[in-house]
Amino acid sequence: MHVRILLIIAMLFASARIWSQDFGDTPYVQTPQNVVDAMLETARVKRDDYVIDLGSGDGRMVITAAKKHGAQGFGVDLDRRLVNLANINARKAGVAERAKFYAQDLFETDLSRASVVTLYLLPEVNIMASSKLLALRPGTRIVSHDYGIGDWTPDSEYEIDAPNKPVGRSKMSKVLYWIVPDHVAGRWMWLLARSTATHQVTMLIQQNYQKLDVKAELDGNPVQVEQAQLIGKQLSFKLTLSTGEQFVYSGERVNNAFEGSQTQSGQDAKPWSAVRVEMAVPMHVLKPMESPRELGVNF
Ligand SMILES: C[S@@+](CC[C@H](N)C(=O)[O-])C[C@H]1O[C@@H](n2cnc3c(N)ncnc32)[C@H](O)[C@@H]1O
Repeated sequence: MHVRILLIIAMLFASARIWSQDFGDTPYVQTPQNVVDAMLETARVKRDDYVIDLGSGDGRMVITAAKKHGAQGFGVDLDRRLVNLANINARKAGVAERAKFYAQDLFETDLSRASVVTLYLLPEVNIMASSKLLALRPGTRIVSHDYGIGDWTPDSEYEIDAPNKPVGRSKMSKVLYWIVPDHVAGRWMWLLARSTATHQVTMLIQQNYQKLDVKAELDGNPVQVEQAQLIGKQLSFKLTLSTGEQFVYSGERVNNAFEGSQTQSGQDAKPWSAVRVEMAVPMHVLKPMESPRELGVNF
């Protein structure tokens, strides 16, 4: 009798394991609720956000985004039973109007509405999805549980305790965060008016993801460029002339122009615009994404 009960218990465990591991390219593993909360906080999800969870499991990511932050969005999963469960969970949470779930392949999903994309997928799946992620609207935030996106360095990354994590021995989770960068590579030109003369500035930007390598010349002579930063669509940098005068620039690309402001130290900001006179392709577009050296998968 005892043996039969033990056998039944063993079979139940085995079927639970199959349910949790055999559906989809990435097995189903839940993100612990405290990690879901941390991911959405990291992406600063707000009421006007549209959150898309790729591989949405029981729906907890989009449901929490809707319930706690007032956002809307959807999740997709290959596993229909999980999609049904997620839609039931959304109804139970009272957010079914704002959190929807579809049985759909993430690679065939239109992400154009997203302002935030969340991931808990295997590292190689993240790499496969990378061209789709990099093609998101500049400024879109991406937050991933545990795994990176190939050689795309995150804007921030940290570890937190995850005592309820169903996998791994450490009971720790990683949260990785990126902001999709605009394409700003190329040669840019503008006129810099000083009290004594007007100068032509030429700036060459090379780009690898959000990282910039910037060189500039004033009337053909090199000038110092520092603090070049691209956050989504927002470019900023500082020029220091040989006279020591400093100019801080900040702007956004509109087609082949930058529109923004130029601030000389101690003075009010003035409008600034520059034109792109030569296009360049960002390095990350030219080369295929590198595979992660060590996948470290613990699903
Ligand atoms: C690790 S689970 C994450 C679940 C949920 N996002 C969470 O964080 O709790 C990954 C999910 O992705 C789904 N999945 C795997 N490959 C997929 C694909 N190509 N398209 C859609 N969903 C996929 C799996 O079915 C699984 O439910």
